[in-house]
Amino acid sequence: MKIVNSIKELKQFLAGERQENRQIGLVPTMGALHEGHLSLVKHCVEENEICVVSIFVNPTQFNDKRDLETYPRTLEKDCALLEPTGCKYVFAPTVEEMYPEPDNRTFDFGTVSQVMEGAKRPGHFNGVAQIVSKLFYAVEPDNAYFGEKDFQQIAVIRAMVKQLNIPVKIKDCPIIREADGLALSSRNTRLTPELRQKAPLIARTLKESTTFASAKSVQEVIGYVVKTINSDPDMEVEYYEIVDGNTLESIKNWSDTNFPVGCITVYCGEVRLIDNIKYK
Ligand code: PAJ
Repeated sequence: MKIVNSIKELKQFLAGERQENRQIGLVPTMGALHEGHLSLVKHCVEENEICVVSIFVNPTQFNDKRDLETYPRTLEKDCALLEPTGCKYVFAPTVEEMYPEPDNRTFDFGTVSQVMEGAKRPGHFNGVAQIVSKLFYAVEPDNAYFGEKDFQQIAVIRAMVKQLNIPVKIKDCPIIREADGLALSSRNTRLTPELRQKAPLIARTLKESTTFASAKSVQEVIGYVVKTINSDPDMEVEYYEIVDGNTLESIKNWSDTNFPVGCITVYCGEVRLIDNIKYK
């Protein structure tokens, strides 16, 4: 496994791999790796001769400066976790390498980037599109791997590669959860032991709601989920929307889509947790 910091050097290595007709897969991350990230790496290693994992805490996607400053940076530990996976290249550039000058591009992907996280975190998806497009230009991967944990992010990236004609296949990978259902996230470590015990209420409630969804209206299901989670004084639902999984438009009736997905964001104490569930 090689650790590479510059785009030029990375391109040289990958040109050599391409000459040997090796298929290249990319797993973009911000580091602080956990089993969720490693599941993406596993898919990538299985499906490509060459797996590249990028580790870069992208400043342009943080709308909260403190969140950026306190984001965990654990490159050494991350490389130790990647070493046994079969990952061939870790791309860990500096901010100056990725942004030699300010990136002034503003993207418009319509609904997929405007609703839910797009509305609550202005500029976030624009920053994601900036960095992921730059990573795609640097690596030119055949396949790129993203987790369904960030369901909306995948929709934004699909819209981006279509709009920019980037020839890469986007592969989505299922959410990896703790035994008690909590979706793995680097933010989980910020939960106090007491809140960590409470956090699985989110996944539990979502799952439970799928068992009776077809017998209830969309509004009733949303009401149930919000009320159940909010009944804990330490939990506050920021939004819960049931959307068409392709367009991300809210649905009014179950018959509006054959791909209904519930997307939620909950403040568990101060920690903002996201999760989602498929209803079919
Ligand atoms: P990061 O939060 O590090 O996540 C990297 C990838 O891991 C994302 O595709 C995310 O959806 C996936 N992931 C995180 N937790 C997961 C879990 N529990 N199960 C499955 N997949 C999980 O997402 C980003 O970084 C950034 O926005 C990035 C795309 C790298 C651009 O900067």
